[in-house]
Amino acid sequence: MDKIPNLLKEHYDLEITNILPQRGGWAALAFKVYCGKQAFFLKVYEKSRASTPKWTALIDQYVPITVWLMQHSGLKGKLPVPVPTQTGDYKCENDEGIYLLYEYIEGETIGEKALTAGQIGELLNMIAELHLYGEEIPVETKALKEDFTVPFLPQLRVALDREVCTLPRDLKELITPHLKQVNELAGTVEKLSVDLKSRNLRMALCHTDLHPWNLMQSGGQLMLIDWEGLKLAPVEADLMFLIDEPYYDDFAHIYRKVHHDFAINPDVLQFYRYRRKLEDIWEFMEQLLFDRQEAQERATTLNHLSKELNEISG
Ligand SMILES: Nc1ncnc2c1ncn2[C@@H]1O[C@H](COP(=O)(O)OP(=O)(O)O)[C@@H](O)[C@H]1O
Ligand SMILES: [Mg+2]
Repeated sequence: MDKIPNLLKEHYDLEITNILPQRGGWAALAFKVYCGKQAFFLKVYEKSRASTPKWTALIDQYVPITVWLMQHSGLKGKLPVPVPTQTGDYKCENDEGIYLLYEYIEGETIGEKALTAGQIGELLNMIAELHLYGEEIPVETKALKEDFTVPFLPQLRVALDREVCTLPRDLKELITPHLKQVNELAGTVEKLSVDLKSRNLRMALCHTDLHPWNLMQSGGQLMLIDWEGLKLAPVEADLMFLIDEPYYDDFAHIYRKVHHDFAINPDVLQFYRYRRKLEDIWEFMEQLLFDRQEAQERATTLNHLSKELNEISG
């Protein structure tokens, strides 16, 4: 457990006086670390996890964009503030993990609570503001540009087609009754992926993971956190999270004031919705196939996967 203080001393010149584990998200562990009275939020991607390369590959590309947004857009004060290392990097690493340090946000995660009318308004304005920015900003966005490739699709196909007989028994039993639906979904996503590549679609900066666990209320401010998914993409990548909400009509009203000629492209929307479903399914499968898990943890993952599979078959 000395590793974290040593690492933070080496890269940030911080003397850590206390470390408290926090409830993290799916992909990373989280700690509240104290340097005297000052608190930081440390996100740790364990190198032992199969999903880590995917979540950490673009840190050097997306963090500078969030920094630009917090300096130059209406999102000032609404985004988590990264703490650079002594050499100006936004991450550091050791044998065990990849580490990102942020200023600690004192406040409450929205999570399972319902958003208030005020918070909904703030969220909608944030999204409308974010979508004003695109590849013209003076920070490189190329690496984050949507190309409609679905990197996990070939792996998923192999696991379902060729290797289904070699899957662990619990996973095989769970997935077999849903094979047809999953394959159909994969087929639709593949087709849309090819089709959308050849279209000339308007793109803007998108968060791509808008859910209440990525929203925090801090003092008078609603904050949008967890920008790992930041992309230059058609705005449907964000709108898919809002479209089924009861406040979608209010959103469309606010949004059109800023984005006058906006209309949802149903193919793009379908691509993002289906891809997200497959991605969630694949992430749980990936955990079951490749991560070392305790029995309890494995049971939880199986349960999550079962819910996802029932949803697409329902
Ligand atoms: N800067 C921060 N300060 C305090 N708490 C935070 C901060 N960033 C995230 N959190 C909390 O940690 C949780 C997980 O963080 P998040 O960035 O969403 O990670 P993940 O990528 O694992 O979902 C959030 O739901 C929130 O409760
Ligand atoms: Mg999150």
